[in-house]
Amino acid sequence: MADSPVRIALIGFGYWGPNYARVLNELPGAQLVLVCDKDGGRLAHVRDRYPGVSICADVDEALKRSDVDAVVIATPATTHQQLTRRALESGRHVLVEKPMALDVAGCDALCELADRSGRTLMVGYTFLYNAAIRKMKECMAPEAFGRTYYLHATRTNLGPIRHDVNAVWDLAPHDIAIFNYLLDEQPRWASAVGSTALKNDRADIGFATLGYANDVIGNIHVSWADPNKVREVVAVGSYRRVVFNDINDAERLRLYERGVSVGDAIAESYGEFKLLVRDGDIISPKIHPSEPLKNQCTDFVEAVNSGRQPLTNARFGAGIVRALVAIDESMRRRGTAVEVSQ
Ligand SMILES: NC(=O)c1ccc[n+]([C@@H]2O[C@H](COP(=O)([O-])OP(=O)(O)OC[C@H]3O[C@@H](n4cnc5c(N)ncnc54)[C@H](O)[C@@H]3O)[C@@H](O)[C@H]2O)c1
Repeated sequence: MADSPVRIALIGFGYWGPNYARVLNELPGAQLVLVCDKDGGRLAHVRDRYPGVSICADVDEALKRSDVDAVVIATPATTHQQLTRRALESGRHVLVEKPMALDVAGCDALCELADRSGRTLMVGYTFLYNAAIRKMKECMAPEAFGRTYYLHATRTNLGPIRHDVNAVWDLAPHDIAIFNYLLDEQPRWASAVGSTALKNDRADIGFATLGYANDVIGNIHVSWADPNKVREVVAVGSYRRVVFNDINDAERLRLYERGVSVGDAIAESYGEFKLLVRDGDIISPKIHPSEPLKNQCTDFVEAVNSGRQPLTNARFGAGIVRALVAIDESMRRRGTAVEVSQ
């Protein structure tokens, strides 16, 4: 027998929330029953677009309802921990936008609460549900990719400028999530610098380096003060280079079958090694289109119904906050390497 639909309340209908509303309203297995936003103007939009969906301005009212199984939280970052805790305590499954909390203790408390209450807690990391990022991971299988040398991500644009967190907390979670997913591990240390170019007390520009096992380096450049919009992740290995470009609709992924690796030592010269250069094709792999947010919401609904962990589960989300906290600390210490708590 098919599962009955998971009845969902969406909290937050600002810029990103409407995308959740659209996806949840159409998703088989889900039923959007309520949208909650403290801004009455936003609720008026909900009423116009979704006349069959209830609205309210107060989270308490949303959590008192008996027809809500799960809550999706798309409010500003500073509200995530408290709203997630209240939703879990009320017995709901939760999908919260990134980052799940602003400190490690907050994340750990939420992970424990979700475990204790037997509820699904998932963090929204849409890029892990992006077909091109999935393909990128396939392209990095060791036999084809060789040894991983480094990853590099650029996420720049003019705005949107947040008023609660800095550009690193707003933008870098996506890239840390992608790196952790591609490498199947978490960084060990972080070194970062940032600058408050717009003089608003929060870094608008950040350069962060993350150290992974086996000397693999992941570098991230974020800025919301750059007129050139770039959304790119590059992975370089000894056999291949793979480039994900999120704003190139015609070619999301490009594969360079080229690389350099170290061969045997040259017999007569002490300490010198032969460099083996591979030169091959440049390929655009076919990506089957699908909407990342829809894939993410499907994983949430399936996890709620089956009790299995979603891909971007609470511990995955907590790992990213651990890295962000180390990046913050390193920025305060002008780039000194800081260990990431495990
Ligand atoms: N995955 C992605 O690609 C992606 C893209 C954009 C934003 N986001 C994330 O989504 C979240 C929301 O971002 P946004 O750009 O929509 O922000 P926003 O400021 O545009 O919207 C937030 C909405 O939440 C409402 N709100 C705030 N506190 C509330 C509360 N206590 N109760 C009820 N409503 C409340 C506000 O009135 C506002 O309408 C952020 O965490 C952001 O990082 C993710």
